[in-house]
Amino acid sequence: MTRSILVLNGPNLNLLGKREPGIYGRETLSDIEAAATKRARELGLTLEFRQSNSEGQLVDWVQSAEQTHGALIVNAGAYSHTSIALLDALRGCGLPVIEVHLSNIFRREAYRHHSYVSEVAQGVICGFGGRGYVLAVEAAAVMLDDQAP
Ligand code: DQA
Repeated sequence: MTRSILVLNGPNLNLLGKREPGIYGRETLSDIEAAATKRARELGLTLEFRQSNSEGQLVDWVQSAEQTHGALIVNAGAYSHTSIALLDALRGCGLPVIEVHLSNIFRREAYRHHSYVSEVAQGVICGFGGRGYVLAVEAAAVMLDDQAP
């Protein structure tokens, strides 16, 4: 199992920093990537960080992840609540999945309370802002250690 983590970010997360800062904070996605990469390095992991607004692109990345990575961290944004295509891809990807949301989706509108990604995630981290990604890297490290021969 490769000690490399793929972090996938869905639609509108490229706008972090200026998008609804009262909900998502002032950190940009680059800030979050830097913090997650730093923590991954400390834990002896490599990390690749990607974002797309396109559902199909996210599905393509999930489909090819098993060849190159050992775990997936996914914040699918609004696709979490809508995308059976992404659910199917994640179910078939053969990698442990950790779901992240910056906001606590359970304290928000009812349509955000259900996530298709959660059906296949080992665990969900939500409500801790950008720090949730660092927590997810730590969880991935534990899972990769557990799977090591
Ligand atoms: C989000 C929560 C989703 O409901 C929303 O559509 C997003 C961001 C989060 O990180 O809190 O785009 O995934």
